[in-house]
Amino acid sequence: MRQQRAEHVSEAALELENVVVAFGALRAVDNVSISVQEGERRAIIGPNGAGKTTLFNAITGVNPPTSGRIVFEGATVTRKPAHVRARMGMSRTFQITNLFPRLTVAENMQLALRGTGRGKFSLFGSMHLTSDEEERVASALSISRLHERGSTAVHELSYGEQRQLEMAMALVTKPRLLLLDEPAAGLSPAERVIVSDIIRSLPRNLTMVLIEHDMELVLKLVDYVTCLNNGQMLAEGSPDSISTDQRVQDVYLGKARDHA
Ligand SMILES: Nc1ncnc2c1ncn2[C@@H]1O[C@H](COP(=O)(O)OP(=O)(O)O)[C@@H](O)[C@H]1O
Ligand SMILES: [Mg+2]
Repeated sequence: MRQQRAEHVSEAALELENVVVAFGALRAVDNVSISVQEGERRAIIGPNGAGKTTLFNAITGVNPPTSGRIVFEGATVTRKPAHVRARMGMSRTFQITNLFPRLTVAENMQLALRGTGRGKFSLFGSMHLTSDEEERVASALSISRLHERGSTAVHELSYGEQRQLEMAMALVTKPRLLLLDEPAAGLSPAERVIVSDIIRSLPRNLTMVLIEHDMELVLKLVDYVTCLNNGQMLAEGSPDSISTDQRVQDVYLGKARDHA
């Protein structure tokens, strides 16, 4: 994998250069530099409070960096608003709190599609999808194992299925970079297996950044891992090298002791 990466250095899909996100005196993200190749599956791991979600918000434009640079497919996007990055092909999971519980799965998908697409965002206007859009909805629902749930109201879905719907909504825009923030958080072991299988079955050319607290789960899903601690890069490497890295084990075990 390392060798393959070295050959494709010029094809970075996402590059972060010395990214800092400060909240007052706290540097939640502290000088992070990451290069994610096209088609790569990258995990960002680290204990709670490490800065993973803040980094994700900097990448997607929800909360731009205090300093540093973010380059997406060769274009500097450091200060570009989130909707512009979405239009450029970045997609993040919608949080469950963004789902419309009384609407059906299919209606939520249509809103996700129209949220970043052309045309006016309207809940009550006609929702005639083009055949291309219909196909995208069907494909995203199928990948997310919800193809039989289109007419089900969201509030009737299990928690796990709602998280699958978040992924389907992120996929329906046909992103080239998919960012998943703890997609398996709060799920039962059986639901975690489903989410892992979905992630594994995503198109191989889709670049993915997966933020996950659970090291065991994530190491089976990705090509390469970046571990953050206190906002800083603690270690980077293959899943194998990270799982045996003493510094990584120390911060995970240290946090486990703190919480005990
Ligand atoms: N909007 C904010 N204002 C102030 N501090 C924040 C804000 N968001 C996150 N933080 C702090 O930044 C640090 C990193 O948080 P976060 O990125 O959520 O960590 P993680 O996702 O790795 O658990 C934490 O100390 C958190 O309290
Ligand atoms: Mg987080």
